[in-house]
Amino acid sequence: MTKKAISLGILALAVGAGSGAYAGPDDDSLVINDELEMVTETAAPAHMEGIDTIYSGWRFRTDETQSLQLDDFDNPAMLTVDQAIDAYSEVDGSENESCASCHGDVESFAGLSAAMPKVKDGNLVTLEDEINNCRSTRMGAEEWKWSGQDMQGMVALIGLQSRGMPVDVAIDGDAAPFWEKGKEIYYTRYGQLELSCASCHEENYGNMIRADHLSQGQINGFPTYRLKQARLISRHNRFRGCIRDTRAHTFAEGSDEFRALELYVLSRSNGLSVETPAVRQ
Ligand code: HEC
Ligand code: HEC
Repeated sequence: MTKKAISLGILALAVGAGSGAYAGPDDDSLVINDELEMVTETAAPAHMEGIDTIYSGWRFRTDETQSLQLDDFDNPAMLTVDQAIDAYSEVDGSENESCASCHGDVESFAGLSAAMPKVKDGNLVTLEDEINNCRSTRMGAEEWKWSGQDMQGMVALIGLQSRGMPVDVAIDGDAAPFWEKGKEIYYTRYGQLELSCASCHEENYGNMIRADHLSQGQINGFPTYRLKQARLISRHNRFRGCIRDTRAHTFAEGSDEFRALELYVLSRSNGLSVETPAVRQ
């Protein structure tokens, strides 16, 4: 047996072992606070070849986990978001500024997260980049760590202003080379198991992998609160965890590789609602 055949065998064993059952997304609808209806299922964007319909990861979770996202009072991410609301108007750094002193009400960021990352001056920039740029060059404050709770809380607070809007990230023009690079990473087989993102999230979504119900790996709900880790998880942290699970060396959070992958994976969510902050197992 070739190495590749063996590794695909491992996947076949892991996927569906025991239960053997394919259980697609459920039919539940996601209405937050009894008023805000989310699009959790829609036609795949034209650039996607392997999938006809895209689904929010929420549709693959248990009723128990799903229920935590139905009401903001039950959503454990909101504690960190509340801290970010305080931080937003706190003066920090040598310039005596707060986010609020320049940006005014945080609601002014409505729509931004649905269209990030995007290219500025030839660089692909994420929300984390924008926030740290303001902290270092405009506030004279220390940069936040990529996956720190202060950073991800702020990313979630700004994302919340776009909740319910469709993800609509640009992939043409200046963005095209970054998108191509992200796509290449998505389909590259990594690690001893020789698995790509697509091996699990495109070819096997709906199946069980060990105890987990595999989704399409969408990122319209990030940062997400993970119950297992009891904190907000960044997109790059999730990518890192998934690559590590294939027993491969992974890229760093904030690396150009993960920026490009973020743009590509988000383009696979185009048309789903921004769900930030989502809750996952
Ligand atoms: C001294 C004024 C100032 C402070 C303080 C400041 N910013 Fe900014 N921020 C700006 C300016 C100016 C821009 C660039 C405007 C643009 O590109 O539209 C910007 C851009 C941004 C953007 C990108 C907006 C876009 O439309 O692309 C985000 C997000 C952001 N800031 C968040 C923050 C946060 C969060 C804080 C606090 C941690 C903060 N900023 C503090 C002035 C400031
Ligand atoms: C060995 C299979 C496997 C591979 C390969 C894999 N993942 Fe995952 N991934 C999982 C499992 C299992 C989960 C948890 C269940 C779920 O949400 O699908 C998960 C979850 C995710 C989530 C969270 C989805 C949500 O709704 O919160 C994202 C995003 C993700 N993966 C992206 C990726 C990317 C990008 C790659 C490639 C770099 C990748 N994964 C590679 C198995 C895999």
